[in-house]
Parts: sequence; structure tokens; C-alpha cells
Amino acid sequence: MKEKMIQRYSAAERVNHWIVAGCFLLLAASGLAFFYPPFFWLTSLFGTPQLARIIHPFLGVVMVLAFARQFFRYVRHNLIDKEDIKWLKSVKQVMGGAEVGDTGRYNAGQKGMFWVMTGCLLLLLGSGIIAWRPYFAQNFPIPVIRIALLVHATAAVGLIAGIVVHVYAAIWVKGTIRAMIEGVVSHAWAKKHHPRWFREMTGRNR
Ligand code: HEM
Repeated sequence: MKEKMIQRYSAAERVNHWIVAGCFLLLAASGLAFFYPPFFWLTSLFGTPQLARIIHPFLGVVMVLAFARQFFRYVRHNLIDKEDIKWLKSVKQVMGGAEVGDTGRYNAGQKGMFWVMTGCLLLLLGSGIIAWRPYFAQNFPIPVIRIALLVHATAAVGLIAGIVVHVYAAIWVKGTIRAMIEGVVSHAWAKKHHPRWFREMTGRNR
């Protein structure tokens, strides 16, 4: 029997997401290359180290703008509600595969990740602008630039760790990657992981 499907992401939403993800991978590669000499070879992804250094901040701006589009699309689905408290209190069972609470479009873990991404990107943007030579850095005293670079590196480590969890969770919960590739999920997936969203989408209880 053919599986029944529900649309979760439109083509525009998927293109938006993969632009963010592509920028992230290039930014993480070039950022690690600047930060830690054993990764310096990663600058060859951009042709030369000089090109990597020039392109990195511009790519950062593209990522922030594309993420801002995602932020405004999804923020209303990522506000914490009382079902999320149940989910968070039972996180051990959730790790064991159980579903807890009447979860809407996103569960508490996904919502937390959304806010981690938002916070890290704001810190990366602010500190990145302060440290951006030759356009903005000359307007700031050297100690401020140094603090900005420390904040930049810390937020980058936080975001990279967050994205490792985001990708792991997307692979771990079977049927999720398909949502961001084909745009659809099965009724069974929606009912199991996001029962309130399933009811909202179909107007059905089962
Ligand atoms: C690099 C590989 C990545 C993969 C494989 C991946 C995969 C996915 C998948 C499968 C979903 C759908 C989850 C669902 O609908 O339940 C999703 C949603 C999402 N992803 Fe990614 N992603 C990646 C990178 C990123 C990056 C770098 C960001 C931003 C910094 C990001 C931001 C988001 C956001 C905002 C959502 C919507 C979820 C929400 O609003 O809570 N993703 N991702």
C-alpha cells in the first residue's frame, strides 16, 4: 500500500535551508583553517588562503540573511509551551525512543536548537563585524577586536557543536531527512513525533 504523505517544507523553504547549510559548511571549514594550523589546508577549498580570508565574512553575511528568513518563517513554531516542559522533564525516555507530550510542529529539543542557532549567529555577526578588516575593524580599539575574536571563536564552537547534534538527530529520527530533501513526511512519522501538528495539518485525530 502506498504510504500517505504530508507536505512539511515547500521547495522555497528547502532551498533556503540548504543555502544556510552550505554556507555553514564553508564557513566552518574556513574558520577552523584560520583558527587551527593543522586545518590550514582547508583554505584550498576557496582556491588560495587569501581568497578564503576575503570570502569568509561575505559568506557569513549570506548565511545570516538566509537564516533570518528561516527565523521569521519558523519562530512562531519554536516558542516554548507547557508540552515542552513535559518533554524536557522526560528527556531520558525520549532518548530511549519514547514520545512524550502533545508535540506540535517542533519538539522541545528542536526548539532549543533553534534558539542556540539564533543566539550563536547573532554573536557571530556582531563580533564578526567588529573584527572585519578592512571595512569595520579600524573603528574599534585593539582590545575590543581581541574580545570580539574570542566571542567569535566561542560562538563558532557552540554553533558547530549544535549543528553536529542537529544533523545527528535528523539522521537518528528515521524519515526526517526526507522532510528537508523531498519536502514530505509520512502520516506515521507525523503522528508519532508531532501529534498536534498532525492534527492541525489533517484535521484528523488518527
Ligand atoms: C549541514 C547539514 C544539515 C542537515 C543534514 C540538516 C537537516 C535538517 C532537517 C532534516 C530538518 C527538518 C527537521 C524537521 O522538520 O523536523 C532541518 C530543519 C532545520 N534546520 Fe537543518 N540541517 C543542516 C544544517 C543546518 C544549519 C547549518 C542550520 C542553521 C544554522 C539549520 C537550520 C535549520 C532550521 C532553522 C530548521 C527548522 C527547524 C526549527 O525551526 O526548529 N540546519 N534541518
